[in-house]
Amino acid sequence: MSYRAMPKVELHLHLEGGAPPAFIRGLAKEKNIDISGIFDEQGGYLYRDFEHFLQVYEAACTTLTGPEEFRRLTLAVLEESAAHGVVYSETFVSPDFCGGGDVGAWREYLAAMVEAADEAERTMGITLKGIVTCIRHMGPEQAKTAAKCAAETKGDFIVGYGMAGAEMVGRPGDFAYSFDMAREAGLRITCHAGEWGGPDMVADTIRDLAPERIGHGINAIKDLALVDQIAEQGIVLEVCPGSNVFLNAVPSWEAHPIAKLRDRGVKVTVSTDDPPFFHTTMTDEFDMLARTFGWEEEVLSELNQTALDAAFCDDKTKEAVAKRLA
Ligand code: HPA
Ligand code: ZN
Repeated sequence: MSYRAMPKVELHLHLEGGAPPAFIRGLAKEKNIDISGIFDEQGGYLYRDFEHFLQVYEAACTTLTGPEEFRRLTLAVLEESAAHGVVYSETFVSPDFCGGGDVGAWREYLAAMVEAADEAERTMGITLKGIVTCIRHMGPEQAKTAAKCAAETKGDFIVGYGMAGAEMVGRPGDFAYSFDMAREAGLRITCHAGEWGGPDMVADTIRDLAPERIGHGINAIKDLALVDQIAEQGIVLEVCPGSNVFLNAVPSWEAHPIAKLRDRGVKVTVSTDDPPFFHTTMTDEFDMLARTFGWEEEVLSELNQTALDAAFCDDKTKEAVAKRLA
């Protein structure tokens, strides 16, 4: 049984990381940018480990030289998501990769993204919202620039602020200023933590950045008191099991803590992270959860509902999406 046709809600997808390799290769050729080293012989992305993945990711982003490239990228990513039943997607986008942190340039990139989102809504029945994301390893000063871009473009489309990147650089508190700025502007907050870092990193993130959702958060399982705190506070985990297994953050699907976290009362959701990089799709994620943990339609529907409840969009959008899930 494949869950391909089942409608799905996805909260954790990096727009740039959703770029099909053939799309990036095509742009590189058009623009005479030599990034041949980031592809393998079959044309997929080539990297050794997470650190190298981040470098390859940044190299791929150098082909996104303007708003038109961004528009095409958004359409390519949404086509793929819609083909796997995704009806609502919250997508991380970074002004550090596109627009060079300049608010004026950022507005143009976003306008292009919104144009693609509107087209996808009409033609594919998928709704897209954006979460402006700073890149941890670029440091707290750069994060402030991203927060400024986020605050100034908050609206119907940009609904949140988050942080991705290499987790072991600095401490969450170093970024409190930019998260506070985003929160004060009315943005909702999510932050990657506990993908590579231990439970201390998750605990510090909760204490210093007060996110409503945590990207990954899986290493919280190593401290059950922390798991209970996450459950009690109703913090939602954006779990990306296929990404974790592919990158060796966990040894196997069987060893993935998502079921234990859910059993202990944590609100878990499921996403793909960077599908072509990790050779996954939302169909694969649902199929593997069914196969590994015996989660059938009832549990998978619960994951969708948890995700929709935790979505950062307005109530009217949620009601419209709920109809598509029914
Ligand atoms: N973790 C951290 N940074 C990222 C990821 C991720 O899974 N994907 C893209 N940037
Ligand atoms: Zn991620």
